[in-house]
This record gives sequence, structure tokens and C-alpha cells, in this order.
Amino acid sequence: MKILVIGSGGREHTLVWKLKSSPLVTKIYAAPGNAGIGTLADLVDIKADDIKSLAEFAAKNEIDLTVVGPELPLSMGIVDFFEEQGLRILGPTKKAAEIESSKAFAKEFMRTNHIPTASFKVFQDKAEAIDFAQTVAYPVFIKASGLAAGKGAVRADSAEDALETIEQMMGERIFGEAGSRIVIEDCLTGPEVTVMAFTDGKTIIPMLSAQDHKQIYDGGNGPNTGGMGAYCPTRIVNEEMLDTIVRQILEPAVLGLEKEGRRYKGILYAGLMITPVGPKVIEFNCRFGDPETQVVLPLLESDLADIFIAIVDGNLNIVEPVWKEAAAVCVVMTSEGYPGKTIVNRKITGLQSKQDKNTNIFHAATKTDGNDWLTAGGRVLGITAVNKTISEAARSSYATVKKISFDGAHYRKDIAHQALK
Ligand code: AMP
Ligand code: GLY
Repeated sequence: MKILVIGSGGREHTLVWKLKSSPLVTKIYAAPGNAGIGTLADLVDIKADDIKSLAEFAAKNEIDLTVVGPELPLSMGIVDFFEEQGLRILGPTKKAAEIESSKAFAKEFMRTNHIPTASFKVFQDKAEAIDFAQTVAYPVFIKASGLAAGKGAVRADSAEDALETIEQMMGERIFGEAGSRIVIEDCLTGPEVTVMAFTDGKTIIPMLSAQDHKQIYDGGNGPNTGGMGAYCPTRIVNEEMLDTIVRQILEPAVLGLEKEGRRYKGILYAGLMITPVGPKVIEFNCRFGDPETQVVLPLLESDLADIFIAIVDGNLNIVEPVWKEAAAVCVVMTSEGYPGKTIVNRKITGLQSKQDKNTNIFHAATKTDGNDWLTAGGRVLGITAVNKTISEAARSSYATVKKISFDGAHYRKDIAHQALK
């Protein structure tokens, strides 16, 4: 089977690495991929949102299955387009992907389907949003409804904060059209966890739970990033909690979408807060998380290609994924300046320092220049180790991190510490 993986980050490197171990897979292409991915797959120089060229490539090269990493092509309708051409692809249709691409839709959908989430109001009129901001109890979260590369959620601690954010999103349009509608919602408290699930629109199979670390600095300080590290599994999502999450959140979401004619096939990502009254949804994503994928897939014993085929063919009910009784930790190394303006093209040393067969260096943004490996973006590498326990996995991961260097390299020193408390 020939597979095309779309995307270029650490998530996609992990997908390619896992698929490569499948006896069903004969060849993998990645578009556009990165230099690390290039050690496992043939790189194709087509951007992730150039849907027409990707479909042409898939048809011409007789790709048996295309796997989409990032949300942008899904929100643009890549699955609809491929299916119209008779090409096999894994992911939700454009209408189903709205669960991520429109927070206004996602929130209304959750209300209709009684899925627990923070109470909220949607606004498309700036004056109305401003009036409302004078009356609410603070803190609240204000979110641009559309895709904003993980930067569209802002906490407001006072009416003054709120007015500034509303002005930026709806007036100045700092997120463009994504801010033409906003959601104002209550602030929830509790630990945050990610539960992703495989689904073919009928059967739902949750993966192991994971925890991301969004802020750039230790202790959860500083601005939000795409994710500075993750670990899997979490203690808080025990069997009982997972059962609650499936029954109250994942099932009503997939079945509710199906009822509305928004068939959901692929990966459904639930970003959750475990509040004192139970799990509530912070956000849904229509794809694998990054860096959660880097810690979840290494613990999957089963053949991922087999699961993907079952999803696309609509018979996920015959698959029973098996997970390793182990733990995984991923520490992300970033470039100087990230998450602001980043400095790239720095030479990376120590990439050959891999500790053992249970440690993987997943590349998020690298390129080569002759024999040199260079940084090529904000998040550069995700060093992922699998071991018996979280603390041993963290130790293995950091042991490798310490051997890798580039000028201005930054990483959090407290990934998974919360799990060890
Ligand atoms: P989002 O872009 O919706 O994923 O939000 C980004 C981050 O903001 C989340 O990962 C949470 O840490 C935080 N957040 C978002 N909404 C809420 C909320 N209603 N209550 C508390 N924290 C939130
Ligand atoms: N790790 C958060 C995300 O993938 O959106």
C-alpha cells in the first residue's frame, strides 16, 4: 500500500514513523514534510493547502491512502475534493471539520447535543459584544470563532481587558475573518487533558489520554505556543473517567454530527478540562494533536495502517487496538524568539546521540544543507522516549535533549512534572 501523508511537523514525522512499521505499507510520500521525515519517506514539494496539486499527485502516483495532518486542508474541504475524484483519504469532510474551524458552530452544536462545555454567547456585532462585556462576571475567555493557529483564545480578567480583546478581534481583525464572530465563555478550572479518538462515524475508539504543555516557560508561564511537550497516559483519565468522556462527549459528538449530515471519519480530538463537576470540552479539533501524537502513537502496539483502512472503509467495529503498558514523554526544543519572531538556519548538533531504540527524535522543522542539519521553524524537534513509567520516560527524553544543541535552543525543564507529583 502506498501512503501520502500531508503536513510538515512533529505530528507528521510520528505518523510516518508509525506507518513505516506496518507490513501493509510499501511506500510513504510526505507533502511537504521536513528533513527528518525525509529519512523515512519521499518528500513531495507541494504545500499542505494546495489541494488540487495534492489530488493530482495522489492520482498520478496511485496512492492508496492519503492521511491529512493539519486542520487547514481539512477545513478547506480536501476530503470532499479527494472523494469526488475517487481518491481514498482519511479525515472529516469540510462540514464535519467545522467542529474545529468554527468555534461558534462547535459551541452551538455542543449546546444542542448536551455535551458539557463552558456556558457561552456568540457575537457577530461588536457593539453587542461590548455591552455584554459590561455585565459578565470575570474572568472569561474570548475566542475568535475561526482558525487562528492556536492564538485565538484570550483570557480577560476585567471589562477593560475584554474591551481591548473585542476591539482587536472584531475591530482591528488581528485574526482576519476568523474574528468576524467571537465566543465569550465562562472560565473553567481543573487539569487539562487531551483525549483523541478513532472514528468512522459509527464506532468510536478512544486512544490513551495525554497532556500538552502550552506555555513557553516552566510552570505554565509566558505566552501560549503550539505545544512545548506532552506525556501519555495521564493518571486523571482512569477507566471510569474515560468511560464518562466517551459517553458524555465523544459519542454524542460523532453521532450528533452524523445526524446533521456531517459524516465524521478520522480522528476526533477533545481538549478537555476535568472540572470539579466532571469533564468539559474546551475545544474539539478535527485531527491528531501536536505534540500529543508524538506520545500517543509510540504506545500503540497495533498496526496504524490497519486502523486507518478500517476507518475509511467504515468498519472500525472489527478493529481492537492494543496499547503498550508503558509511558511516553516528549520534550519539544524550540528556536530563539519562538513563539514570537523566530531565528532559523542554526546548525543542529547531537542528532546522532539517540539513546536507545525507545527514544525517537521527531523533527518538527528542520532542513539539511550538505551534511549539516539546520533549524527551519519555531518548534524544531520533539524528543520522545518510551519507558516503563512517566518518570523513567522523562529521564530518558531529557538525557537525549541534553546532547542536542543549536544556538538559542530552548526547552521546558518541567515536562510531565505534574504527573510525578
Ligand atoms: P483554545 O484555543 O480554545 O484551545 O484555548 C487555548 C487554551 O486556553 C486552552 O488550552 C486552555 O488552557 C485555555 N482555555 C480556553 N478556554 C478556556 C475556558 N473556558 N476556561 C479555562 N481555560 C480555557
Ligand atoms: N496540542 C494542541 C493541538 O494540537 O491543537
